[in-house]
Amino acid sequence: MKGIILAGGAGTRLHPVTFAVSKQLLPVYDKPMIYYPLSVLMLADIRDILIISTAEDQPLFQRLLGDGSELGLRLTYAVQAEPNGLPEAFIIGADFIGDDSVALILGDNIFYGPGMSDCLRDSRRDLDGCVLFGYHVSDPERYGVGEVDDRGRLTAIEEKPAHPRTDRAITGLYLFDNEVVDIAKNLAPSARGELEITDVIRAYQRQGKAQVIDLGRGFAWLDTGTHDSLLDAGQYVQVLERRQGVRIACIEEIALRRGFIDAESCFRRGARLPKSGYGEYVMDIARKDERQQDHRQKAVLR
Ligand code: G1P
Repeated sequence: MKGIILAGGAGTRLHPVTFAVSKQLLPVYDKPMIYYPLSVLMLADIRDILIISTAEDQPLFQRLLGDGSELGLRLTYAVQAEPNGLPEAFIIGADFIGDDSVALILGDNIFYGPGMSDCLRDSRRDLDGCVLFGYHVSDPERYGVGEVDDRGRLTAIEEKPAHPRTDRAITGLYLFDNEVVDIAKNLAPSARGELEITDVIRAYQRQGKAQVIDLGRGFAWLDTGTHDSLLDAGQYVQVLERRQGVRIACIEEIALRRGFIDAESCFRRGARLPKSGYGEYVMDIARKDERQQDHRQKAVLR
């Protein structure tokens, strides 16, 4: 499965903060926003990832993440020239996707919760059609809203309905089989003049091939669209990290734990940020991993 992070858009609701810098590069507490969606794809064991941004922002994303090799990833970049809607990602990324399936995640969506990686890996394995992730919110009118039958199959979806029939938002993480490329190519723009992801999903729903997994109450799906929600997201991350002494969405840690890189490469990444607590954390993770390897090796020799 391939991965696409869509990090385009002008971030107008965050002006003037986003006049000069892409929204997805803004900090969410101690790391750039794009680290969060990137770590979701990594947790799903997706290593081939296309990052789509505006032309002006592309060099900045490249400066931040490079070709991904230091993290055991293959990162490539593409431009979305105009905000023509989310499904354009599948048209821009058609060659990249090839005949594979694809996970699309929006660059400003933050997911955090227990069992995330297992859930993603299971959904990926059994994929037939598309898998969506539902989340109950108090303001469903701001999102795509889905209705689901008792087997978790999507029966209806509407984009930002004035009078939502449920409070289940469809979050910005989608797993699609390869048919999505053809569906996107044949899509007509909506009344807003954009291609809509909900229209893509409806094409699957009509075939009975859109499955919804509800993220439960203990799960956090955080919004970063406004000044307040961005600050809330940062504070959420800060509270958990300080309390538990762990870092959320630390891409080096995930790369090490998933076996994409070894402890030495992980340590080297941390050593480049000696003055930030983030770098210390990464070096510490690498040291601990090495010690565990030693223990394991000694146990085998004994
Ligand atoms: C987009 C989708 C919407 C989805 C949301 C999740 O809306 O169109 O269906 O619920 O992302 O973040 P946007 O936030 O781009 O307006």
